Amino acid sequence: MNSSAPIGVFDSGVGGLTVVREIMRQIPNEQIIYFGDTARVPYGSKSRKTVTRYSEQIVRFLRQQDVKAIVAACNTASAYALDEIEKEIDIPVIGVIRPGAKTAMDVTRNGRIGVIGTEATIGSGIYARYIKEQNTEMEVLGKACPLLVPLVEEGLLNDPVTDEIALRYLSSLIDSGIDTLILGCTHYPLIRATIGKVMGGHVTLVNPAYETARELRELLEGAHMLNQSKPELGDNRYQFFVSDGADKFIRFANSIIKYGVLSAKVVNIEEY
Ligand code: DGL
Repeated sequence: MNSSAPIGVFDSGVGGLTVVREIMRQIPNEQIIYFGDTARVPYGSKSRKTVTRYSEQIVRFLRQQDVKAIVAACNTASAYALDEIEKEIDIPVIGVIRPGAKTAMDVTRNGRIGVIGTEATIGSGIYARYIKEQNTEMEVLGKACPLLVPLVEEGLLNDPVTDEIALRYLSSLIDSGIDTLILGCTHYPLIRATIGKVMGGHVTLVNPAYETARELRELLEGAHMLNQSKPELGDNRYQFFVSDGADKFIRFANSIIKYGVLSAKVVNIEEY
């Protein structure tokens, strides 16, 4: 595999851009091809079977773009589909869950870890499983917070409505004695300040987006696949594809990442 080939990153919609932002910061020489499944979002309320089928279609699309590695930048897709994807492809693929779980285990002092995410991610119990596989003594408390995704997509990042909903969801975790909280959904890093305020300063927030970019860097380095040449600044460095609503995607993307996103191509993902 050519080390100057792009990295494929996908998500159910715009949320995976929080992972793209970290990859751009931590491994700036890499080219990225991003696919956001904006026609079929949200994944968080869908079944394992459906999310797996969607994810496999996206992986087929990304493979056709000759990517050298794939990042499932969606907690729900990582929870439900990563094992299936790993079986099917011969290039490295990483999800966002293992890196987040690993970091939470490193930073917790009392072994009580909270995790918030979509109904699918929390219902799958995957964070708890990963953590307990490593250390059976750890306790993991999950809480699904489905309304936080639409609030973020509405741009209500610093808003009393978001504060109120976050408080309702998180109140059971506040009194649970956790000292670490995994932001187990792509959108939550965008309201990190609100979540931090609600939980209080004694709770360390773990952002799997940051940890995933770090793990990706280590993986590429270990495989001698880091891009050695500096790509030209231009349209091909970062390419964005969506399944619907390109204009809305571009607006949201430009509110998250500094690199000016000028275009997003619409792909009929059902064809893959
Ligand atoms: N990207 C999803 C996740 O991280 C959140 C949005 C959705 O439900 O599709 O789980």
